[in-house]
Amino acid sequence: MTAAPSAAKVISEEYGSAIVGVYDDIYGELDEASAEITALREWVLRAGGRGAVVELGVGTARVLGPLARSLAGEPGLRFVGIDGSAALLAQAAERYPDVPFDLHESDFSGAGLDAIVPSGSAALVFCVCASFSMLPDPAAQVAALRNIAAMLAPDGVAVIETHSPAFVLEVIGSAPTSMFIPYARHETGLACFSSVEDGIWRMRQTWMDGDRTTSVLERSVLTAPSDLQALAADAGLSVTGLTGGLAGGEFVSPSSPLYAVTLRRDAAAGTS
Ligand SMILES: C[S@@+](CC[C@H](N)C(=O)[O-])C[C@H]1O[C@@H](n2cnc3c(N)ncnc32)[C@H](O)[C@@H]1O
Repeated sequence: MTAAPSAAKVISEEYGSAIVGVYDDIYGELDEASAEITALREWVLRAGGRGAVVELGVGTARVLGPLARSLAGEPGLRFVGIDGSAALLAQAAERYPDVPFDLHESDFSGAGLDAIVPSGSAALVFCVCASFSMLPDPAAQVAALRNIAAMLAPDGVAVIETHSPAFVLEVIGSAPTSMFIPYARHETGLACFSSVEDGIWRMRQTWMDGDRTTSVLERSVLTAPSDLQALAADAGLSVTGLTGGLAGGEFVSPSSPLYAVTLRRDAAAGTS
């Protein structure tokens, strides 16, 4: 008998199936020389430039693809992307045919990830663009953080980037509201319907491209930096840095929409 998929896996599957046709239109491409890729590359090199580089919630590999290209000269690295959406993973493989990454369909808060990333083997584990907040509750978030702690090598680093609750609550507001983000190409843009209830940011996003529309629902469990720090401590991880996102810069509350934390494994973690 096959076990029923976890709530976290179902969320990812539904999101991926709804957005796959327009994901790359909405999120675009990251350049190998961008601040985001440069920051991640530095973490890998500082951790010794060997072992696994793992993205949890890799999507269409918008981040892992250029990162792997930028580190192509480092022979001791293995690039691993984990995502719950088979549709998005198929698009990642198609988008970066030159990148020899291992892509796995799995819930990153689930059990058994040591079969994909052996314990203590990762130089860098990252979970960015708010994939972490798609986990349905704090229990799933701690489970994901425990998976991260198990994967990390002693010198390894983890990076989590997610929505800042202060920005959502104080700048956008918790009451139902509508926004429109125009894109550069004529007749394209994103309509967003936002509301917050019980600490969950609900965003209905409708991508418009001429007469074609695609609608996607995203739920973000709002998690403040201090909450993330407490959950991480439960999982044997310590926060070592806080910035206003993967590209760096100061985190300023409430004006920074995102924040990023770096985490390291506590000395005792992984030894029991
Ligand atoms: C907003 S997208 C970000 C994708 C990619 N990191 C990027 O920056 O373009 C969130 C991704 O997380 C994945 N995801 C969410 N929850 C997941 C889970 N529990 N296990 C695996 N993947 C998950 C979704 O399928 C989706 O690909």
